[in-house]
Amino acid sequence: MEKPDYHILVCNSFRVSGEAQGVCNKKGAAGFLPYLEEEIIDRGLSAQVTACGCLKVCDRGPAMVIYPQGYWYGDIDSEDKLDQILDALEEGEAVEDLLIS
Ligand code: FES
Repeated sequence: MEKPDYHILVCNSFRVSGEAQGVCNKKGAAGFLPYLEEEIIDRGLSAQVTACGCLKVCDRGPAMVIYPQGYWYGDIDSEDKLDQILDALEEGEAVEDLLIS
């Protein structure tokens, strides 16, 4: 198995019960997953996208993290912001305005 260059964790607010509840999910984070998957394929990026449980930054949700860089992004409420993040990733940079950590 070839490891991806990037792992993108997208908060979907999963709780212990397995239900997706919480800020990020209510603000449409689930809709980001297919968009990210498509963009990654279109751009030829080596990246794995994973929906995850609460990242504990709910007041900044929807939130996502990119490893190995450790970029924590918040207030991701549009495809335009996802494009900015992926554009920057391709350049080896972060979108400073969207970083929360
Ligand atoms: S629900 Fe997304 S950070 Fe808490």
